[in-house]
Amino acid sequence: MVDGDLLKVIKERRSIRDYKDEEISKESIKTLLESARWAPSGSNIQAWRIYVVKGDKLESIKKFSPGLLSDPPIIFVMCADIEEAENKGGKLSKDVLTKMDIAIAAQNICLQASSIGLGTCYIGSFNKKAIREILELPDHHVPELILTVGRPKKIPDPPKRKNLDELTRWVE
Ligand SMILES: Cc1cc2nc3c(=O)[nH]c(=O)nc-3n(C[C@H](O)[C@H](O)[C@H](O)COP(=O)(O)O)c2cc1C
Repeated sequence: MVDGDLLKVIKERRSIRDYKDEEISKESIKTLLESARWAPSGSNIQAWRIYVVKGDKLESIKKFSPGLLSDPPIIFVMCADIEEAENKGGKLSKDVLTKMDIAIAAQNICLQASSIGLGTCYIGSFNKKAIREILELPDHHVPELILTVGRPKKIPDPPKRKNLDELTRWVE
């Protein structure tokens, strides 16, 4: 990889809220899932599960997700396996680290998607209870995050970022 290639992908990733009415190939979906698989996780426990959802179930989930206003062909519902997290990593893993692991896996997906011309958007605003019921999740699978995935219709301008002086402190 050439210097700066990854930063370019990082900067060009956008939250996409306008998708083409186009199926995403199984091969592309598997590439995204593979990028999640290689994310780091606390003690390498990997206590997360991804439900790949489309069709009627996706339409039902939209009704209970105020943050999901777009029309993606597919979503990933990213769940914590709290049983595995607690059994293997205790309370810290269950309450904190697995949620971080999910966020990291999600960002791998978003960057990988962007690098192959797909769009994604994090959805944090959704009704957990309703999603659990729609997907008939076992009690130990807790939905923490939704990612929309699809072919972008248009890519928005980048929203402003704070400058580094505001975001960072150098301690010597
Ligand atoms: C944890 C998290 C939750 C988010 N939830 C939502 C959401 O519910 N709906 C939505 O449209 N965007 C959501 N976003 C997307 C942010 O609004 C977006 O990342 C931010 O405005 C910066 O824009 P960018 O992703 O294009 O750089 C979420 C992002 C994160 C990281």
